[in-house]
Amino acid sequence: MSCEDIKFAYWVPNVSGGLVISKIEQRTSWDIEYNRKLAQIAENSGFEYALSQIRFTAGYGADNQHEPMLFSAAILEATKKLKLITAILPGPWHPAVAAKQLATLDHVSGGRTAVNIVSGWFSGEFRAIGEPWLDHDERYRRSEEFIQVLKGVWTQNNFTFRGNFYQFNDYTLKPKPLQQPHPEIFQGGSSRAARDMASRVSDWYFTNGNTPEGHQTQIDDIREKAKQNGHAVKIGVNAFVIARDTEEEAQSVLKEIIDKADPQAVGGFAHEVKNAGAASPEGEGNWAQSTLEDLVQYNDGFKTNLIGTPLQIAERIVNLKRLGVDLVLCGFLHFQEEVAYFGEKILPLVRDLEKERHKTSATG
Ligand SMILES: Cc1cc2nc3c(=O)[nH]c(=O)nc-3n(C[C@H](O)[C@H](O)[C@H](O)COP(=O)(O)O)c2cc1C
Repeated sequence: MSCEDIKFAYWVPNVSGGLVISKIEQRTSWDIEYNRKLAQIAENSGFEYALSQIRFTAGYGADNQHEPMLFSAAILEATKKLKLITAILPGPWHPAVAAKQLATLDHVSGGRTAVNIVSGWFSGEFRAIGEPWLDHDERYRRSEEFIQVLKGVWTQNNFTFRGNFYQFNDYTLKPKPLQQPHPEIFQGGSSRAARDMASRVSDWYFTNGNTPEGHQTQIDDIREKAKQNGHAVKIGVNAFVIARDTEEEAQSVLKEIIDKADPQAVGGFAHEVKNAGAASPEGEGNWAQSTLEDLVQYNDGFKTNLIGTPLQIAERIVNLKRLGVDLVLCGFLHFQEEVAYFGEKILPLVRDLEKERHKTSATG
């Protein structure tokens, strides 16, 4: 097990409807006032990162969506320590624009930016904004070039690049980002193409929620390939956290979320994402094994099973660390209250368990 403490991120609710496709009452809001306060609570509760999503249209209920780069900038203004991971979709964004915007944001925020390169799963969204919908692996080829370009522009002067999607000619970005060698680059996706990209170019691989076995298979696969490529990649996994003083309470919240799910919206989402996965060469993708119940949290967050008492959750988090996970990306029902509860009740237990395990592994 690594000696570094496991890190925590939360999903910025910059889209309406929260993190579940359910009509359950939620106190989470997508407005900036709510999000500024949430970010302050999070950084004071031990969260190191926050991830803003990108959606151009609603795929399932998330009818309103704030643009993540500007939203991140507003949150950065209101915080002191938190790092904002901004999702960027190659296609709508050109990498020269993204590199320049993020370099400025990095200076303005004192070096607290990061980026999540996502490759797209919703063809209707691309159609709606008149962007060509590339086939599955072609999207990942473009994302990989996008990442190569970000790194090149951020670290080199007179950058020249001859790709299939992007070309640069003797280009020098000034100023370079504050963070050296460059802001961290995350990516999302679980298909063969996504894993191969992670094992070549990304600093971080984000994946959907899964069982410990499911996560282990992916981690072993990526780390083995990354080793062959002489590349190091860290792993972040998604989890929808339902922490309550008793297990019964936590389970009854889960049941209520699922019972109040919007079947049409979940079904529509399932149809889109399963089609997107089936279009990959291996015919799978992120959501191939997901049931309709799983998809009520649209990134399979229930599957990671951080649902129960603070101690149960802390033990499962430390188990994730043992599998090779470096970061847990958390979603919540009532973000502000539950992020605070997480910081107060769960994080101290995680840190205690980490210390105990380090001691045991050092003496054993
Ligand atoms: C943690 C995480 C965050 C993601 N965030 C976004 C996002 O903000 N916008 C988006 O369009 N897709 C997002 N995705 C979707 C991925 O980019 C990708 O399209 C999807 O996971 C399908 O991947 P696959 O083709 O490798 O199975 C995210 C995925 C993960 C795992």
